[in-house]
Amino acid sequence: MPSLVSPEVELAIKGFILDQEKMAEVVERMTKELKMGLAKDTHPRAVIKCFVTYVQDLPTGKERGRYLALDLGGSNFRVLMVTLASDSAGETISKSYDFPKSLMTGSGKALFDFLAECLAEFCKENRVEDETLPLGFTFSFPCQQKGIAKGVLVAWTKGFSCEGVVGKNVVTLLQEAIERRGDVKINTVAILNDTVGTLMSCAYHHPNCRIGLIVGTGSNACYVEKTVNAECFEGYQTSPKPSMIINCEWGAFGDNGVLEFVRTPYDKIIDKVTPNPGKQTFEKCISGMYMGELVRLVVIEMISKDVMFHGDKSQRIQKAWSFPSSYISDIESDPPGEYRACNKVLNDLGIIGSQESDKEALKLICQAVSSRSAKLCACGLVTIINKMNINEVAIGIDGSVYRFHPKYHEMLQFHMRKLLKPGVKFELVASEDGSGRGAALVAATAVQNTAKL
Ligand code: GLC
Repeated sequence: MPSLVSPEVELAIKGFILDQEKMAEVVERMTKELKMGLAKDTHPRAVIKCFVTYVQDLPTGKERGRYLALDLGGSNFRVLMVTLASDSAGETISKSYDFPKSLMTGSGKALFDFLAECLAEFCKENRVEDETLPLGFTFSFPCQQKGIAKGVLVAWTKGFSCEGVVGKNVVTLLQEAIERRGDVKINTVAILNDTVGTLMSCAYHHPNCRIGLIVGTGSNACYVEKTVNAECFEGYQTSPKPSMIINCEWGAFGDNGVLEFVRTPYDKIIDKVTPNPGKQTFEKCISGMYMGELVRLVVIEMISKDVMFHGDKSQRIQKAWSFPSSYISDIESDPPGEYRACNKVLNDLGIIGSQESDKEALKLICQAVSSRSAKLCACGLVTIINKMNINEVAIGIDGSVYRFHPKYHEMLQFHMRKLLKPGVKFELVASEDGSGRGAALVAATAVQNTAKL
């Protein structure tokens, strides 16, 4: 059967293909960068920072108590209250708050005042405003931690650029905003990355979990390292605890140019229009914030070449960021030869009168972008597993791309199997409660450890 798709589309898609050889090269380069982040002498110039998280205890199942949690850094902002009881009796109450887009690029003070306001409202609604509950702050941006409750923001990512926050301890900024209001008492006992919350909540049910992965708005992973290898931790040689969770911040991989061999012209166009050009190279090839825009850029180039959608340039799809990554999940959920979800997307975009060849081309472009994303994530996970030198591991995963893309799980698994040494067993586990239970578990550990001092 002759291909429905034009040579121009095929050529554009080709740029996204990562063959086995290229994937092996990604693993090799990433391994080098990961080791640089971990080692004290190379850490300052490393791009994958491998931040020490000060989380050294995996859950035991014996954690108890009531905790608050804040979750900032994904597709929405949430406040949660988690009660840790015996395994079956836990409870989580959570509320999502509309997060005005303007807050992402406004002042830091406005951002933290908003967080404090939502928190106060939540506490009042749940009648806990007179208690001083310990809070775990899931703040999913690169932070240099100086302790379990001290995290200095190194750079904003994922479209945020609030002024006055980089270089500051975000826990202090949050506590100050809470105190400015004066209507609730909160004790922020821990700050954590979303990957860490994901690992912890997964480890609660799967004792073999040692890696946490997010493939959502952004992408990043954390893993359990031997404390003696966490050279940037001041107590790395003396700590009585054998493990330390490392927040890799792998999104920055490639910021020194080592990923140029996988990047396409479309990646470069996106990079230029983001608030952080030249930064988060790996993340921009992988995550939900950028996947839809990559597809859109290919499509509008094909329109301008008159090989898709009748060359009609009047459509809404010409507008930057008008193609959310959720469309990719929708389009790829159609069975072969059917276009029910695709038609809905086209309808949403106001594209009418498209032909089967247009729809087929659109699907292939989506597949090219999502499969590259899954391959790169597989490379990242394999890099970490090799570094850990273990033969069996469970990986807790969360994020909108992983959760909603119909084939992401399968793709990730398939490519990991191909890259891993024979005999290494792994399990990919959806871990949806990182910012609730995960944050509470980190907070519980923090409270316990302070009590012991
Ligand atoms: C970005 C952040 C990182 C976070 C990830 C997933 O890469 O820098 O901290 O874990 O997004 O949300």
